[in-house]
Amino acid sequence: MSNLTEQPPAIRLEKRPDGVGILWFDTPESPVNILSSRFFGDFAAALDGFEADPSLRAGVLASAKPDSFIAGADLKQFVGLDAAQGTALVTEGHRLLDRVAASRKPIVAAIHGVALGGGLEVALACHYRVASEDPKTQLALPEVQLGVLPGAGGTQRLPALIGLAAALPAILTGSRFKARKALKLGLVDHLTSPRGIVDVAARAALQLAEGTLRRKPRKPTPLDRLAATGPGRSFILGQARKDVLRKTRGLYPAPLRILDCIEAGQARGFRAGATAEQQGFGALVGDSKGKALIKLFLAMTDVKKAGEHLPPPRRVSRLGILGAGFMGEGIAAVSMSQNTVVLKDLTPASLGKAAKNLDAGLAKREKSGSLTRLERDRQWSNLVFSTDTQDLAGCELVIEAVFEKLELKRQILADAEAVLHPQAVFASNTSALPIGRIAEGAKHPERVLGMHYFSPVPKMPLLEIIVTDQTADWALSTALAYGVKQGKTCIVVKDGPGFYTTRILAPFVGEAMLLLEEGADIEALDKALKDFGFPVGPIALLDEVGIDVGAHIARDLGAAFAERGWKTSPAAAKLVDAGYCGRKNAKGFYIYPPEKKGKSGKKQVNPEVYGFFGGPARKSFPAAEMVDRLALLMVNEAVRCLEEGILGNARDGDLGAILGLGFPPFTGGPFRYVDLVGAADVVARMERLKTTCGDRFTPCAMLVEMAREGKRFHED
Ligand SMILES: NC(=O)c1ccc[n+]([C@@H]2O[C@H](COP(=O)([O-])OP(=O)(O)OC[C@H]3O[C@@H](n4cnc5c(N)ncnc54)[C@H](O)[C@@H]3O)[C@@H](O)[C@H]2O)c1
Repeated sequence: MSNLTEQPPAIRLEKRPDGVGILWFDTPESPVNILSSRFFGDFAAALDGFEADPSLRAGVLASAKPDSFIAGADLKQFVGLDAAQGTALVTEGHRLLDRVAASRKPIVAAIHGVALGGGLEVALACHYRVASEDPKTQLALPEVQLGVLPGAGGTQRLPALIGLAAALPAILTGSRFKARKALKLGLVDHLTSPRGIVDVAARAALQLAEGTLRRKPRKPTPLDRLAATGPGRSFILGQARKDVLRKTRGLYPAPLRILDCIEAGQARGFRAGATAEQQGFGALVGDSKGKALIKLFLAMTDVKKAGEHLPPPRRVSRLGILGAGFMGEGIAAVSMSQNTVVLKDLTPASLGKAAKNLDAGLAKREKSGSLTRLERDRQWSNLVFSTDTQDLAGCELVIEAVFEKLELKRQILADAEAVLHPQAVFASNTSALPIGRIAEGAKHPERVLGMHYFSPVPKMPLLEIIVTDQTADWALSTALAYGVKQGKTCIVVKDGPGFYTTRILAPFVGEAMLLLEEGADIEALDKALKDFGFPVGPIALLDEVGIDVGAHIARDLGAAFAERGWKTSPAAAKLVDAGYCGRKNAKGFYIYPPEKKGKSGKKQVNPEVYGFFGGPARKSFPAAEMVDRLALLMVNEAVRCLEEGILGNARDGDLGAILGLGFPPFTGGPFRYVDLVGAADVVARMERLKTTCGDRFTPCAMLVEMAREGKRFHED
């Protein structure tokens, strides 16, 4: 008797009268095809049917989903795996794809939409690949970004197909290829339109079976010729390894494992490479760093549902941006593809500068092939440059990015309210001013909230949305939906001094200043934190953010939290008085040599700066001590934000710290870091620092309680 709750198979075989078997991928109850053990089981059954039927002479793998081939593997499945289970899982995938590759009847992949990770590996195992020439068609092996490696033959089949030199950057960075580029690389063999793709693939499959079509081997490049020799290959792989170590400081095991697999395959053949891949995948997926990166990705997906319990968002057809400076321009750049954007500033000169930069950005994207000329013109025509507040009329959302001055921001809000519809949302991009204080005196405080972007806006993935006790749910819902449209990962936090991200950054940078006062060396301090996994050190970061901005924040937050022992060095304020603002005015902790051919030279410490920190004589501090002093203060402050309800949950705290501030991603964020090393360990280290450095290292009550009860922030 059939089970009524049984799901249909993820793959069904259609037998066509022309002798082609189409294997249709159609993961049940999912908008896209996702690889899993079950998928592989169904795939094997469909292959049995295909192989056993003598009327079928050739096969096509195609997706029954609109606009997506296979989106990748089911990452949730990876979370609970240990190394042996990880190896077993991918060994099963290998066996299946080896069957595809070894099939005596030719099999052609018909790729329309994304073919990512395992999805591309399925296509790589085929005998021929047809792709649709459509912007939705994108091919990549992005596993490295998740701390693992392509575990279904990708480390072996990609170099075999496109050559070692082209495959290395593709696998080591996970970059996406559109159809044209994929054709040029030899990653696909033929391009066609999305509509007729299955028929085109079926025709190619039959021709392959009849011997009237052969895959054209790629024309070898000079690098291919170099890679064909033993010493050449060693040289290319050696350079790639050096490059990885330089970029990752050896902190990320995945790219090194990938190189091991490729090297094994190149030196000892496909089997040896495949075995290395299966073992390597297991080792990475079972390791805490791989798991942290996978969970980070899952959290980024999960947080997209944050608006589900809220009223529907208001549609934004006209966005207003007040202040066309550095941030305003960035916000415009990520919004102009969506709707009309009114960019308002005081003078035509400021607007002209923003217009020039936005135009240059569009031109660059057109040149790189990511925008068509038509799309570039459409986005440009969405921009309205204005010096008149009246032009904000009709905006459903306004984001202000004027100077960081409370009175100015209040004035801007009052001016905007005079022309805005009562149900338009007003957002401030302030770095640290409490939103409630900006909203004091507003006619409609329920529509005021914070939308805190990070610089540079087009590159930084985080948007921190700040709500006050008065912010209406519809206003939040509108800001959230718009942030997602801008491509941002949004976290929602409560209002307070520095909200979440600025609040946890302030003690981190503040402690760096205190260490310099005690005699630490600037480069040694930056290096210690980079070796821990931050992308930039605290001093270089302060130069980027602006010493003036940092001093301002330190003053405001220092005053707000002074009673619990926050200590602020006066040096930053003195530096600002002496004209040091950081990189923006070329007067910072470092001296930045001018760019040569688009590349910046190595920055050097500005020795004059030590004059503000007790003179040029420097002392050596153990790296672990410097890291603990900075990172544990950040972790403790993050936990306090959860304790005080600034954060709704630990997940958002991890996302905010990693995506906004560069907290080492492979730790999983401050909360997962506590789970990893144990709250008791963090408390003990803080208590030790409290005795040597002062009360600012007092662990917060929540951390102490968690240590006592052996609790964790995350269950998984
Ligand atoms: N720079 C950063 O890294 C960063 C990051 C997050 C948030 N922020 C915040 O964003 C805001 C803007 O920072 P920025 O770095 O873009 O500053 P900026 O100095 O580059 O730009 C500010 C712009 O506001 C304009 N302006 C001033 N008064 C105005 C008015 N009445 N009407 C319209 N325009 C007016 C100025 O002419 C200037 O072009 C600040 O609140 C800052 O704290 C900055």
